[in-house]
Amino acid sequence: MKILVTGGLGFIGSHTVVELQNEGFEVVVIDNLSNSSEDVLKGIEAITGKKPLFEKLDLREKSVVQDFFKRHSDVNGVIHFAASKAVGESVGNPLLYYENNINSLVYLLQELEKKESANFIFSSSCTVYGQAETMPINEDSAIQPAMSPYGNTKQIGEEIITDVAKVSGINAVLLRYFNPIGAHPSVEIGELPIGVPQNLVPFITQTGIGLRKELMVYGNDYPTPDGTCIRDYIHVVDLAKAHVIALQRLLNKKNEEKVETFNLGTGVGSSVLEVINAFEKVSGKKLAYQIVDRREGDVTLAYANTDKANKVLGWKTQLSLEQAMESAWKWEQKIRS
Ligand code: WQD
Repeated sequence: MKILVTGGLGFIGSHTVVELQNEGFEVVVIDNLSNSSEDVLKGIEAITGKKPLFEKLDLREKSVVQDFFKRHSDVNGVIHFAASKAVGESVGNPLLYYENNINSLVYLLQELEKKESANFIFSSSCTVYGQAETMPINEDSAIQPAMSPYGNTKQIGEEIITDVAKVSGINAVLLRYFNPIGAHPSVEIGELPIGVPQNLVPFITQTGIGLRKELMVYGNDYPTPDGTCIRDYIHVVDLAKAHVIALQRLLNKKNEEKVETFNLGTGVGSSVLEVINAFEKVSGKKLAYQIVDRREGDVTLAYANTDKANKVLGWKTQLSLEQAMESAWKWEQKIRS
């Protein structure tokens, strides 16, 4: 069973390749290395004993995508991670985001549409819910107008897939991630942010290691118990496992739904200060931070109702915030040593 993982050397992609290989799937990875490194292949091999097939290709080139599927006509499942994901950058350069995230998706679907049947898993985001009115957020919660071109590419991506699935042999699963963090417990793979991290956890670990002077906590005047924003931080290994289960569900399809959507989170919200506390506990270090103004575009609260993923997929997170912080910290120490 050959599965294509696009963006398979990225943060979530690489952890998913590990879980797929552990379950016996044959994986072919496409990655253009724009936000990843070929060294990740070594980490995957160290964990699983197997190097996946790898092709350094750019999905923004239609002829490249066409050629790939000619050479790999036996691919019958695609997990599509390849995308740009920096919210701020997307505001400054929207066309880059529409080109990277939408063109590549369209070219992939154009090839899959030619097949009698195909299975497609899409990396979506809880960002589609914006500031949801009620917590926890379930899959039927309203989709809000996107707050950034990045967020818009996720919404548009979901719509494109839904439209195409209706008129083709493609069945799809849309996975809406909450906040993925952590690293593989082997510390062979983890997150490799380029430049100054925009996300909380890599910024914390880089501050802990001395690469950054202090963390800026964006606002403590939110209507939450400690005044800082609340998110649902999910261990990347738990998240990766959900992809394998979603793929198995598609491969053994027993229902009529062409597209199914699942929230992937822990169901538990943690504040910024709670994440800092968890870091301090597992690292034994005091974290330097100061409270600054709110960051534009941040929602106050977002955590998942995981009932659907728990019941329908039979998937549940197994790892705690502390385990995630511990692995993120070990990973940071390893890559700086
Ligand atoms: C988490 C919390 C910040 C950095 C974003 C995207 C989303 C998804 C994941 C990805 C917030 C606070 C952060 C810092 C801070 N997309 N924070 N100081 O904003 O929930 O989600 O990343 O691919 O679409 O929007 O995650 O990690 O940036 O922030 O105080 O230096 O940490 O205000 O409350 P967010 P985040």
